[in-house]
Amino acid sequence: MNVAEFEALRVFTSEYLQFPPFVAAFNEIERLVQLYRQTGIAQHLLVTGESGSGKTTLCKAMVERYPHASLPERDVIPVLFVPMPSTATIASVAEAMLARLGDPAPTTGTTSAKTARVARLARACAVELILFDEANHIQDRGQLPTQYMVGDWLKSLMDDVQVPTVLLGLPRVENLLRVNEQLRRRFMLRLHLEFGKDPDHTIETQCLRLFTSLTPSLPVPFNKGGTTWSELAYRLHAATDGRVSYVKSLLIGAIRQVFEQDLQEITLAVLEAAFTSAIWPQGVGALNPFCANFDFRRLDRAGEPFQPSDEVVRPSSRRRAHAA
Ligand SMILES: Nc1ncnc2c1ncn2[C@@H]1O[C@H](COP(=O)(O)OP(=O)(O)OP(=O)(O)O)[C@@H](O)[C@H]1O
Ligand SMILES: [Mg+2]
Repeated sequence: MNVAEFEALRVFTSEYLQFPPFVAAFNEIERLVQLYRQTGIAQHLLVTGESGSGKTTLCKAMVERYPHASLPERDVIPVLFVPMPSTATIASVAEAMLARLGDPAPTTGTTSAKTARVARLARACAVELILFDEANHIQDRGQLPTQYMVGDWLKSLMDDVQVPTVLLGLPRVENLLRVNEQLRRRFMLRLHLEFGKDPDHTIETQCLRLFTSLTPSLPVPFNKGGTTWSELAYRLHAATDGRVSYVKSLLIGAIRQVFEQDLQEITLAVLEAAFTSAIWPQGVGALNPFCANFDFRRLDRAGEPFQPSDEVVRPSSRRRAHAA
């Protein structure tokens, strides 16, 4: 890899893309903060999205929007960003929050002492918004009693701290709210980070827009050749499922080839190779959306890259199935 390639990648990955579901979620969270600032009312929001749809990036954008500040007498943390630990026990979540709040000994004390410290420090640091990313980890713990207990703890903490709280996770997080009615009642506002129904634009067209918003940042021009825009839109949607991370991976794969092969433009043949190298090694021939003999269907069957996350058998559920 050479310096020019590094620079091309830096330029390409440096900006937040303002695609509609991302902007809608950002604006809604912003509204929660403003509502809280002006009235003290804490509303909460659930944001779901498949892997690579931009949930963690959304959290980072909010942290940048309301940055931390170190005042002489205290730290101010307007946005408390907490990735749920994979164990997702009450103690581990409390510890993760304490660490982010600057507690010098997050693992010290009983669970209730840690919880009390979280609430106290959140107030002391003037937290105005809590973002719990990877909320599906609570649900992935499997057993309903554990899910219920963590959910219940979360609910009490939210009532205690009383600031807007956003839960972000894979679509299966909705199941967590299904088992806990009190938590469900607090997360009536919900958004899905996915291209939705738009009367003026198909999902494929929205995906094409995301792609074309990125092409000006490429080091060489994109040339679609004789392909029509609507066909390209279909192929792009099939190749990326409309998820920002896959659109970017595809183009990062293309940039790699530009430098390796000293190309003057990015064509469909380049995207075909990039799909195989950067998205799905088995994606060749009829399974490659940029190949002439592509099957023209979604790649969402078992073992394909866009199999819905709810259908992927997780190790814990496999164990339960065996135990049953
Ligand atoms: N608005 C955006 N602008 C630019 N790049 C983005 C944006 N949203 C997401 N991305 C890119 O997509 C990649 C995946 O995004 P992100 O990690 O936020 O997805 P996620 O929904 O949190 O996925 P997971 O469920 O796997 O954690 C990021 O590395 C980032 O480069
Ligand atoms: Mg994430």
